[in-house]
Amino acid sequence: MIQTTDRSAPEGIDAAIARVTALKRERDAFLLCHNYQAQEVKRVADAIGDSFQLSARARTVPAKWIVFCGVRFMAETAKLLNPSKRVILPESKAGCDLADSIGPEGLRALKTQHPRARVVMYINSNVEVKALSDAICTSSNALKVVEAMDSEEVIFGPDRNLAAHVAKQTSKRVIPWAGSCPIHEVFTLPMLQRARKNVPDACVIVHPECPSDVQEEADEVLSTSQMIETVGRMKARRFLIGTEIGLIEQLRELHPDREFWPVYEHKSCDEACACPHMKITGLHSVLRALDTGKEAITIPEAHRAGALRAVERMLEIGK
Ligand code: 13P
Repeated sequence: MIQTTDRSAPEGIDAAIARVTALKRERDAFLLCHNYQAQEVKRVADAIGDSFQLSARARTVPAKWIVFCGVRFMAETAKLLNPSKRVILPESKAGCDLADSIGPEGLRALKTQHPRARVVMYINSNVEVKALSDAICTSSNALKVVEAMDSEEVIFGPDRNLAAHVAKQTSKRVIPWAGSCPIHEVFTLPMLQRARKNVPDACVIVHPECPSDVQEEADEVLSTSQMIETVGRMKARRFLIGTEIGLIEQLRELHPDREFWPVYEHKSCDEACACPHMKITGLHSVLRALDTGKEAITIPEAHRAGALRAVERMLEIGK
């Protein structure tokens, strides 16, 4: 398991957790945590979930502070939805390579080429790009959001694999942006075929950010929380999972009687399947955030209304 407290505290994990718990109460802070975070961070979370669940939860948090253990676009979305709160991203460098793959100029150019198309943007995008979009989606509702658009053509960005996943299931013409997540691109079809040979009775579940041929070969293509729910319902004992390592660790902890393997050729994929942005955050970061109140997220006024409208459209469609 990836331990991130090494850089933290001279104290052990239990003492750090006790300090976080006391500071949360003192500051009136609520800790939202994405499924990819380290297990030690999940232990201090008030809510754990996928991108959609965390956005919906952020909107109704009553506490004064929201400490978002995830990456910047997630904290920005929380700030959009609950603007009176101090939303804190404990590690300012926790970004997203996929989100950074599309900028406003690129999206504007694509919109000019396809003037009749609506724009559905994956939540893994920066706020200025969200502001130029008609609706936001996450991996759990992308098809539903695309289908809800009142146009035959839909520009979909920035993840080309999620775009392909949607395109297969809709009659609309999906115009993809060519971005991808470097962690999910690690998984390849030959790798999955070899893994299936090694564990022939395993159920294969992958994230829609995986390459299209990997999705085709999988038994299920699901968001991170859908993976957790689906495994809970299934009778299978062995699983091959194609997503970030934090989700696999969570599944192992939830079901110690079952086996979970990454879709990866080596037994451990701690490095290749670990998102460096997600894994910057450790208990030490949470402690510092609660202590200093930094880094508080601000949304540039020029993008606030447009980005909020697009995020709210998703929540409306997702109801
Ligand atoms: P989920 O919405 O499935 O949790 O995915 C978030 C993400 O960033 C995947 O890389």
